Amino acid sequence: MVRPSSSVLNYISHSYLVSESWRSFIFIPTTLALITSCFILFYISTTSNIFLNTTTSSTIIIHHPTLFLLSNSSSPFVVGYPTVTHHDQSNLNDSFEQTSDGTLGAATEVSYSDGVEEILQSEKATTDIGSKGQYGYNEVFHDEDLFLEDYKEMNGSFKIYVYPHKSNDPYANALLPVDFEPGGNYASESYFKKVLMKSHFITKDPSEADLFFLPFSIARLRHDPRIGVGGIQDFIKTYIFNISHNYPYWNRTGGADHFYVACHSIGRSAMEKAEEVKFNAIQVVCSSSYFLSGYIAHKDASLPQIWPRQGDLPSVDISERKKLAFFAGSINSPVREKLLEVWRNDSEIAVHYGRLPTPYSDELLGSKYCLHVKGFEVNTARIGDSIYYGCVPVIIANHYDLPFADVLNWKSFSIVVATLDIPLLKEILHEVSFEEYETLQKNVLKVRKHFRWNNFTVDYDAFNMVMYELWLRRSSTRAPLSQLVGISSC
Ligand SMILES: *[C@@H]1O[C@H](CO)[C@@H](O)[C@H](O)[C@H]1NC(C)=O
Ligand SMILES: *[C@@H]1O[C@H](CO)[C@@H](O)[C@H](O)[C@H]1NC(C)=O
Ligand SMILES: *[C@@H]1O[C@H](CO)[C@@H](O)[C@H](O)[C@H]1NC(C)=O
Ligand SMILES: *[C@@H]1O[C@H](CO)[C@@H](O)[C@H](O)[C@H]1NC(C)=O
Ligand SMILES: *[C@@H]1O[C@H](CO)[C@@H](O)[C@H](O)[C@H]1NC(C)=O
Ligand SMILES: *[C@@H]1O[C@H](CO)[C@@H](O)[C@H](O)[C@H]1NC(C)=O
Ligand SMILES: *[C@@H]1O[C@H](CO)[C@@H](O)[C@H](O)[C@H]1NC(C)=O
Ligand SMILES: *[C@@H]1O[C@H](CO)[C@@H](O)[C@H](O)[C@H]1NC(C)=O
Repeated sequence: MVRPSSSVLNYISHSYLVSESWRSFIFIPTTLALITSCFILFYISTTSNIFLNTTTSSTIIIHHPTLFLLSNSSSPFVVGYPTVTHHDQSNLNDSFEQTSDGTLGAATEVSYSDGVEEILQSEKATTDIGSKGQYGYNEVFHDEDLFLEDYKEMNGSFKIYVYPHKSNDPYANALLPVDFEPGGNYASESYFKKVLMKSHFITKDPSEADLFFLPFSIARLRHDPRIGVGGIQDFIKTYIFNISHNYPYWNRTGGADHFYVACHSIGRSAMEKAEEVKFNAIQVVCSSSYFLSGYIAHKDASLPQIWPRQGDLPSVDISERKKLAFFAGSINSPVREKLLEVWRNDSEIAVHYGRLPTPYSDELLGSKYCLHVKGFEVNTARIGDSIYYGCVPVIIANHYDLPFADVLNWKSFSIVVATLDIPLLKEILHEVSFEEYETLQKNVLKVRKHFRWNNFTVDYDAFNMVMYELWLRRSSTRAPLSQLVGISSC
């Protein structure tokens, strides 16, 4: 009798296992895709009433994201990102800005569709608290231990090379840090550069740099009579031409290890004549909306818009907060019009336009919730203001890629309300219990330090948080061409 040798048995069972695992290998992604789609649909149906109201229904179709090389670029680092198509007449004019040549911007000209269309409310759907008013889990960080560990590594090793400019450069006013105290709405831009140049992240040796900083200031260029709003695009184009001819670093990566920082929304169209900046470089901007073709989520990063305030932090007592919610601002967008239309005569939700009868700070200190409502842009300084005064921010700005959202759990210290749910605002706020509110407010105070600029960097302040966001984005830019082609063809 011939018994199969154990090696034959081994072979048989081995091949059985292989075919089993092969089968499940094919099965798992399909199942996951189905479950994810169901989950997303379920999520949308629970967080907004958009499916209930066919007359105002709004859907965003995000074509399935695939790694995509733009075919006519000489740069090996140009990678495509999902295109977002929006079908909502009610806020189309408000949130979409056409590029100067009247097209949707180059990013939308490329189709990334591979036949799968997913309906998503927003890529960062997890930051949305929804209409039910449930508040998020209590932790301010998604993963504090990971953050602290990473932060330490970033703090010890991250190096930035800044293109040098002499003080007699004709554009020194826009290229060098300002010699005064930055102020006003777009201070974040000037603060970042001022603090960076004095920080330990700076290296004079480009070979040890992780990232290269393009030091132009959009806000300063805008006010320069030689350039102005109309001349910014050409200035940037020339600037990139100059550095790509005078230094080898830009060409090496097509700009993918370069970044710039801008707070004024004009920065978005500033890159129209320098597409490599838009597609490859890391854009750290205040107007960070998923909806805009100029901003590429995950590649780019959100810069918090902060009106700098000096002196001691105000007292933030909960018992002094008698009013439910407060908003003040000009009515310059359909979202704000809607807010005014619904809540203008309300006794609990105060909506002011025009001149405030009382000091702004008194309102922020006397209200439980402070509304941040999309105006021309998704961003304003109001979130920073609320946090400074210990008021829980309510964010009504669809598609806003919130600052530091990949580190901070916005659900723990704010309430995000979809534009369509404005009529439900009071209901949403009333559903938050006093204990839940206390937690939200306590967490606002915890995140306060991340939304402050300091003359010299202080650990975990706004500057260091932006550095951390840059650090998270640094290594993904160093893949050689052969690897990228390999990924995109599989
Ligand atoms: C549905 O849309 C109509 C028309 O815009 C509006 O009047 C109505 O209030 C909406 N209903 C809900 C529940 O939002
Ligand atoms: C692709 O090539 C066309 C024509 O040469 C040019 O106008 C366009 O800017 C290029 N696009 C990119 C992304 O490089
Ligand atoms: C959007 O703008 C177009 C043209 O500028 C105008 O005809 C239309 O009424 C606007 N729609 C809304 C909802 O404001
Ligand atoms: C970050 O680096 C600075 C300068 O080396 C140092 O003073 C600070 O303690 C560091 N912070 C952390 C959290 O490691
Ligand atoms: C580019 O370089 C030229 C020649 O050195 C210089 O005159 C010009 O000011 C530079 N422009 C920018 C935007 O850097
Ligand atoms: C970078 O590439 C451009 C366009 O291909 C070329 O004209 C330029 O000379 C290159 N720069 C350097 C420093 O080699
Ligand atoms: C608010 O009050 C004004 C004037 O008192 C009135 O004309 C308007 O219809 C009221 N709006 C609402 C939504 O009740
Ligand atoms: C920065 O320093 C200036 C001058 O020393 C001071 O007036 C200002 O209050 C400081 N700013 C901050 C945010 O600490």
